[in-house]
Amino acid sequence: MAVRQICPGIVSVGAIDWDRRLFDELIPLPDGTSYNSYLVQGSEKTALLDTVDPIKVHELLANLASLGIGTIDYVVAHHAEQDHAGAIPDILAAYPAAKVICNDKCKGMLSDHLHVPEDRFQLIQDNDTLPLGGKTLRFIMAPWVHWPETFLTYLAEDRILFPCDFFGSHLAQSELFVGDECRTFDAAKRYYAEIMMPFRSHIAKHLERLKEFDIKWIAPSHGPVYQNPSFILDAYRNWVSDTVANRVLIPFVSMHGSTRLMVEHLTDALIRRGVSVVPCNITNADIGELAEELVDVATVVIGSPTVLTGAHPEVGRVAYLANALRPKFKFTGLIGSYGWGGRMAEQILQLFTAIKPEVLPPVIVKGMPREDDFRSLDQLAETIRQKHESIGIWPAESA
Ligand code: FEO
Repeated sequence: MAVRQICPGIVSVGAIDWDRRLFDELIPLPDGTSYNSYLVQGSEKTALLDTVDPIKVHELLANLASLGIGTIDYVVAHHAEQDHAGAIPDILAAYPAAKVICNDKCKGMLSDHLHVPEDRFQLIQDNDTLPLGGKTLRFIMAPWVHWPETFLTYLAEDRILFPCDFFGSHLAQSELFVGDECRTFDAAKRYYAEIMMPFRSHIAKHLERLKEFDIKWIAPSHGPVYQNPSFILDAYRNWVSDTVANRVLIPFVSMHGSTRLMVEHLTDALIRRGVSVVPCNITNADIGELAEELVDVATVVIGSPTVLTGAHPEVGRVAYLANALRPKFKFTGLIGSYGWGGRMAEQILQLFTAIKPEVLPPVIVKGMPREDDFRSLDQLAETIRQKHESIGIWPAESA
């Protein structure tokens, strides 16, 4: 990746991973990603803010060499996860005078995961400052964004916030700054859903604290730099709020068509009532897209056939994931079909241990749905509409 100057004294020296397609062996990356690392040069000291994933360490070292960087005084480790910290041992080897700047919790993690030696650390606390000569780094502790050790850096003179994963997006692009706002919004929302949503209440507090800072640009550790901070700050404020949209997500699996008939009928019944709906066949779904929908839907109705007396295992996987991501949907339901018996409803709903949506009456039918079953689905659609009305989101402003 080419070295790119953000402004005088600040250079992006990280790496773009154009063809990475999976993160944590779980999260699909349809647009690749980047591991952003920023070199900040003061008149007296030089700091490197985060490194890169170890698979890209050669690019980071080459970028630093191309700039003729002979000395790095500090490596700021905002976060110990390997996609940002994994190249620290190589940087410490290449720059023997460099100290790792981090908090005590991060030090423990870097010692455990990367075996960084004790004498290479210099610990900081909340609000500490580190002068580089005309550029002053101020550290802001932000635990649980998304690990407990995370902190951010505010560069006072240039009014740039370096928030590591916070506000990031898995987006590989050659431009340094946000270009296509729609594309960036989608990628950032998806990133929030997959990484940050389980920590919504912590993130809300950190967003409040950031109000005390005069921020010109936001330079995260994944994706483009934001020249318009309110673009992403306002989006985050909306995502972490309790506000939900007049929309229903229907993740479903259908083996022989009965559940699909039910999903299609419910989808139409909701549309007729002015409720936005997203049916999602999870057999081939991108779980990132599913997670993104979970950010602000008001209702989730799961559709499943019966397999071995229980729900389809793919449905169980999605319910488990939805519970782990802790979305804020208010209502849930279950529709599906069985051949000779089963305990699908209890089985799925007991997976919701971390979230407590109101459970709407399930519609479980024997075999292929009949007229009575379709009427039950109409009733479910009407119940959902009424529930949405009761919390003030129906009718939608645009309906
Ligand atoms: Fe991008 Fe939590 O690492």
